[in-house]
Amino acid sequence: MAGVRDPNTNSNYDAWRTRHTTANLTIDFADKCLRGSVVLELVSQTDKASEEIILDSSHVAVSSVRLNADASTSWEVRPRVEPNGSPLHVSVPHGAAKGETVKLEIELATTAKCTALQWLTPAQTGNKKAPFMFSQAQAIHARSLFPCQDTPDVKSTYSFNITSPYVVVASGVPVSESSSVEGGEAGRLYRFEQKVPIPSYLFALASGDIVTAPIGRRSVVATGPNELEASQWELEESMDKFMEAAEKIVFPYRWGEYNVLVLPPSFPYGGMENPIFTFATPTIISGDRQNVDVIAHELSHSWSGNLVTSCSWEHYWLNEGWTMYLERRIIAAVHKDDAHFDFSAIIGWKHLEEAIEEFGKDHAFTKLCISHKGIDPDDAFSTVPYEKGFHFVYYLDRLVGRENFDKFIPYYFSKWANKSLDSYEFKDTFLEFFSAPEYADLKDKITEIDWEGRFYSTGLPPKPAFNTTLVDVCYELAQKWRSADYVPNSADVESFTGNQKLVFLNAVHSFDQPLTAAQSQALGRTYGFLESRNVELKTVYYQIAMRAGDKATHEGVAELLGQVGRMKFVRPLFRSLNRVDRPLALKTFEKNRDFYHPICRQMVEKDLGLAESKTPAA
Ligand code: BES
Ligand code: ZN
Repeated sequence: MAGVRDPNTNSNYDAWRTRHTTANLTIDFADKCLRGSVVLELVSQTDKASEEIILDSSHVAVSSVRLNADASTSWEVRPRVEPNGSPLHVSVPHGAAKGETVKLEIELATTAKCTALQWLTPAQTGNKKAPFMFSQAQAIHARSLFPCQDTPDVKSTYSFNITSPYVVVASGVPVSESSSVEGGEAGRLYRFEQKVPIPSYLFALASGDIVTAPIGRRSVVATGPNELEASQWELEESMDKFMEAAEKIVFPYRWGEYNVLVLPPSFPYGGMENPIFTFATPTIISGDRQNVDVIAHELSHSWSGNLVTSCSWEHYWLNEGWTMYLERRIIAAVHKDDAHFDFSAIIGWKHLEEAIEEFGKDHAFTKLCISHKGIDPDDAFSTVPYEKGFHFVYYLDRLVGRENFDKFIPYYFSKWANKSLDSYEFKDTFLEFFSAPEYADLKDKITEIDWEGRFYSTGLPPKPAFNTTLVDVCYELAQKWRSADYVPNSADVESFTGNQKLVFLNAVHSFDQPLTAAQSQALGRTYGFLESRNVELKTVYYQIAMRAGDKATHEGVAELLGQVGRMKFVRPLFRSLNRVDRPLALKTFEKNRDFYHPICRQMVEKDLGLAESKTPAA
């Protein structure tokens, strides 16, 4: 057998490929599980018929497997091996001819160890009236929902038949209301169809007391009743502008609706690009419209990631690097000013420097293409594929010139739409496009591209010259804070956007010498960071304060750690709190253990040295 190119799957997807998946699941809030069946339609890929189908699974209780309705199908869940889980082996007597489809019906229930679901009590929601649940499958957690070919290299269409006592949203288009029927005691049946083939990591569900309001021509925001108005206000101004800009850069949106589900605060990411319904952290609803870039980012994934997908987590930069690039193009287009592109890129560069510093500049996880053999993608996850990926795309853009690159963008996304690719296929596509006679004058430049170096060098990529118009004022103000007797005034930051305040704070945070505790207190008080609802700003401020030895803020840090579960904030805050006050860090973690999403809980346990990482390299 040729083998597969994704090391994070045990499935034999070179022999069989899922074409369609039907999920018939009941959301059981009492038992905190999903139960029901999935039906996988698998197409045989080889002439030499494979007599076995291997699927990924992780902590799923499988109760029966029927191949083409045959109840005597023999199957087995093999012992767990980290990080890929416990594969389900199903025998296919005599195999199937190439191109033939078999139907595999698997009855299952998720278990308490499921890493893809979080179950919230009514007390953990906004109006405290109903429980809430949501899934998060990226990177390799779909296998803990149901056995599947859990690799971004396989795309399937989906039918969702979900029964719940509460409103359900999913990563498919709702099938008209009238067809949703009472499902008896278990609730109502909600049906969705996803007709664009998607990888398993984009399978998503959420259920709870969810209401919706329009935010654009093709968009609603969905969230709890108490959060609806603020969420609508935050997003309605930019939604259609983002969409219009994105469609102009790439090509028309292919998914029908684009909606945003604003989740309860334990949602572990800023956003997750689940098709039809982006899932988003409530920290973007900051009351100042200053954190909506996250939506430009998730919307961009509708092309980079969801339509054109990296074939394994080793080439993840193809998803995130391209998405950062598109996000920044959208932001610049909406502001009608390229300085915004550079402004966001400068912030990203800083994050990249920090990440590389944290790993060490020779660490394998600082490469653009990261080997994932034996590695859990959650452990390798960092800003590197985002920002190093962005810098590779942006480098190519500058190399060939914007006008030419703008023609390459739709070409690339059309060519690979509904497919998955690796970095070399990207390279081939780029070279193929620019080998056309009209680009003959670019030949020398293109031959110079050091693809291997770009893919496999550790550490920082070459730094481009940025347009610093929007950051200069931030750095000038930061410079003043170097002097211990600088007397601040609230007017200093009056004209700053949220991101400018962030750049200023980051600059202060990276001083060789920490501020004094008194300076740090003045900073928080005078510029309003202590009372800010903008968690992005509050987090960096707390970092500065902890470094300054301002113990008075430790309780504030602990309090914030009980209010947000977004890993971007929670993990660095815990790491810093752990350095300055380990007992408080441990107490805070224990207190909020159930509040955090299972993935966040696991990562923080590692960060605090309470658990071993699953992959020794991490
Ligand atoms: N796809 C990611 C979120 C993700 C990454 C989930 C890895 C699970 C594993 C999403 O598109 C993302 O990058 N979100 C960012 C938003 C930001 C870069 C604007 C986040 O969550 O902070
Ligand atoms: Zn992303």
